[in-house]
Amino acid sequence: MSSFSTKIKENFQDYLTELSDLLAIPSVSADPQFSKSVHQCAHTVADLLRKSSLNHVELLETPGYPVVYGEKYVDESYPTILVYGHYDVQPADPIELWHQDPFNPVIKEGKIYARGAADDKGQFFLHIKALALVIQANKLKYNIKVIIEGEEEVGSKNLEAFALQYKEKLKADFILISDTSMIANEHPSITTGLRGLCYMEVEVIGPNRDLHSGVYGGAVANPINELCKMIAKLQDEEGKILIPGFYDQVAEVSESERARMAQAPFSIEDYKNHLDIEEVFGEKDYSVLERVSIRPTIDVNGIWGGYIGEGAKTVLPSKANAKISMRLVPNQNFLDIEKIFEDYFKSIAPKSVKVKVNAHHGGHPAVTSITSESYQIAEKAVEKSYGKKPIPLRTGGSIPIVSMFKSVLGIDTVLLGFGLDSDAIHSPNEHFGLFNIEKGIETLCYLYAKED
Ligand code: BES
Ligand code: MN
Ligand code: MN
Repeated sequence: MSSFSTKIKENFQDYLTELSDLLAIPSVSADPQFSKSVHQCAHTVADLLRKSSLNHVELLETPGYPVVYGEKYVDESYPTILVYGHYDVQPADPIELWHQDPFNPVIKEGKIYARGAADDKGQFFLHIKALALVIQANKLKYNIKVIIEGEEEVGSKNLEAFALQYKEKLKADFILISDTSMIANEHPSITTGLRGLCYMEVEVIGPNRDLHSGVYGGAVANPINELCKMIAKLQDEEGKILIPGFYDQVAEVSESERARMAQAPFSIEDYKNHLDIEEVFGEKDYSVLERVSIRPTIDVNGIWGGYIGEGAKTVLPSKANAKISMRLVPNQNFLDIEKIFEDYFKSIAPKSVKVKVNAHHGGHPAVTSITSESYQIAEKAVEKSYGKKPIPLRTGGSIPIVSMFKSVLGIDTVLLGFGLDSDAIHSPNEHFGLFNIEKGIETLCYLYAKED
């Protein structure tokens, strides 16, 4: 056993206590009610960085929540790694589906349960602890800069200006992010692609007030009926998106990458059982793993309007709304997609209703190289701790700052995540495996440390 893994085992209870304290802070960036806690969380992260012997720890203000910064400078001749993470979390709703208070962490069955356990508090915490051990052992072989932001879950809207402002301060050879998952604990993987995101909100407007559905129904268009018909025209039975021009920029993935994806361990039966679904959905020419990573998608995230209270109310509502998001792949541009979505959505609306279309935050997709030196550094560390060479795999989620960092700072990213897709991030009962915490810290120790 390496001296790092011995140390990790010795300290493990302390790690869990510290992580629990961090998870107990409800740093929900989307809801202004939690703003005090989000600020408090930034201070707690700063304290953790200081405790790990990082220097120049400070909160860098933005028009929104601050970015926590810390660094460890060792030697001019050493390469510099910029570590990125986010201390904000998604809202915990629906609270009633949690088996416990989402901000009162519970450890059971080898996992720690709390909002943010895997996304992303538990994951950036691994870096803090690994850095502490490597610095303590006097073995750090990189100069380190750490930034932990507080607005990732609401689109990192202040981070581009931040990157421009601190371009010099953030200079690094590569960026390292742990905010994704591995395919399985038995088969480590490194993420090599993220999807982009285009997020729209639509409103379909009918008569100037809610109407009696008996008196008016049949002669006045019902906005909910019309919205549903319009949504039905966005996608065919197989999931193909019907917006003209939507696929124009979609890059086809090479046969060799597809062949490699086909080798990844994946059981469709386990997948269906895990989700309690009889059948999967999607484009027949693509595997499930391909459908959720190299192909673009469209999903209604929420839909509302009319009467949803107790009992029955016969109403022909005046409005209907929906939130509709699209996951994008290289080389789709979310700004172009916003435009063609709006044009198409308005073009399929009947004359009997008016339509408003607005865009929320978006993000560009990203792919990372598997031949770069930085990828190989991560690969080597994973192989040492897991005893197996990691598989490079694209994922379906989005981290828009990856492409932004590339365009603004000119720096490439390595996506070395330690979660699992089954960690229930953004869902009730989010958790992070204790195995993943231990292996994560161990892997990062190997990554950061000089060899004996
Ligand atoms: N950490 C996730 C992204 C992620 C999760 C990537 C799992 C790969 C695997 C990140 O915090 C997130 O939730 N991103 C959002 C987009 C953002 C703009 C709100 C997403 O993917 O929905
Ligand atoms: Mn995240
Ligand atoms: Mn998230």
